[in-house]
Amino acid sequence: MKIILGITGGIAAYKAAELLRLLRGRDADVEVVMTEAATRFVAPLTFEALSGKPVHSDQWQGMAHIDLSRGADAILIAPATADFISKIAYGRADDLLSALCLARECPLHIAPAMNRMMWENPATRRNMRLAKADGVILHGPDDGIQACGESGPGRMMEPVEIAERLFSFLAPKYLNGKKFLITAGPTVEAIDPVRAITNFSSGKMGYALARAAIDAGASVILVSGPTALRPPSGAEFIPVVSAIEMREAVMARIREADVFASVAAVADYRVANASGIKIKKEGSLTLELVPNPDILAEVANLENAPFCLGFAAETDHLVEHAEEKMLRKKVDMLAANLVEDAMGLDTNEIVLLTPVGRRILARTSKQEIAAELVREIANELDLR
Ligand code: CTP
Repeated sequence: MKIILGITGGIAAYKAAELLRLLRGRDADVEVVMTEAATRFVAPLTFEALSGKPVHSDQWQGMAHIDLSRGADAILIAPATADFISKIAYGRADDLLSALCLARECPLHIAPAMNRMMWENPATRRNMRLAKADGVILHGPDDGIQACGESGPGRMMEPVEIAERLFSFLAPKYLNGKKFLITAGPTVEAIDPVRAITNFSSGKMGYALARAAIDAGASVILVSGPTALRPPSGAEFIPVVSAIEMREAVMARIREADVFASVAAVADYRVANASGIKIKKEGSLTLELVPNPDILAEVANLENAPFCLGFAAETDHLVEHAEEKMLRKKVDMLAANLVEDAMGLDTNEIVLLTPVGRRILARTSKQEIAAELVREIANELDLR
């Protein structure tokens, strides 16, 4: 993927370094173009080091204004100042970056950043209307504390969110019209109002799968136990706590789903009689545990069940346990990993079982694994 990252002269220019790192982290080939004003805020050397390429800002270098954007998938301007937005709106081309925008063949994305008064000024509002009418894609701005100390709309959207939205925009939409219901994270089973039994799931794999399905054009309902993660933008998010709540949330919506991906680490047991008041310590304590419903097995055994993807985290005999689980729960596809390879990490390594055989998904980021799983599901649904 080839992306032109344009940086204009605002204090948020320092955040463009993080944005560049995120784009490069997803293997994008990024050419950085800075306006003269942007180079006053952050030295081009920073972006040269992060992109591994020279930074462009001189409009008098041959046909750079045309050559640079040839074959680009997108131009992303972050931050985009009020001044630069006015140039885009009026089709001006008096520096390299604005000339590139005018001579482009690809979509133009902008992440505005400016003082709230500038953002709310009728001139900026008018320029934004013009730019949007011409198909410019807007990311942000956010509301919040600004560099000048004031608070209001005009903060640049966080780099992680801009990158997420850009990749989502660029991904092929082969799951358009399909609905995924995904469970993620741990469940937490109360012992009393202040104590609980849970497990070590971070939720990262389930959230990554939700992101990948959204990127491929699916609509996604994400039913999640408590995690420290930000819900993926674009998902319908249903937070739950216990396995019983998770089951209820899933069963209420399962009829809408074409695909059910059961990524949650559902606690196998809950406390038989959770106490309504805090238990005081008096010597040893014995808890009676009763089994929780198996949500995946219940869904997979429904009449007209959706396509079901299950997960298995094992400490040993990975393939044997996974094959047994796949048959017992009657799922269409099962992603198995070793606990030590995945738990809490940002990467994963998976043995993928389908009715016709098994495939290894070699160690890579959970986001890449998720994208591969979504492609496999689309293959099974005959969508690719
Ligand atoms: N699962 C579920 N509901 C449960 C338990 C598990 O939906 N109560 C789902 C998980 O989301 C996962 C798959 O079933 O997709 C495998 O879960 P796991 O706990 O590993 O399987 P179990 O059948 O509980 O086997 P065991 O604990 O004996 O390994």
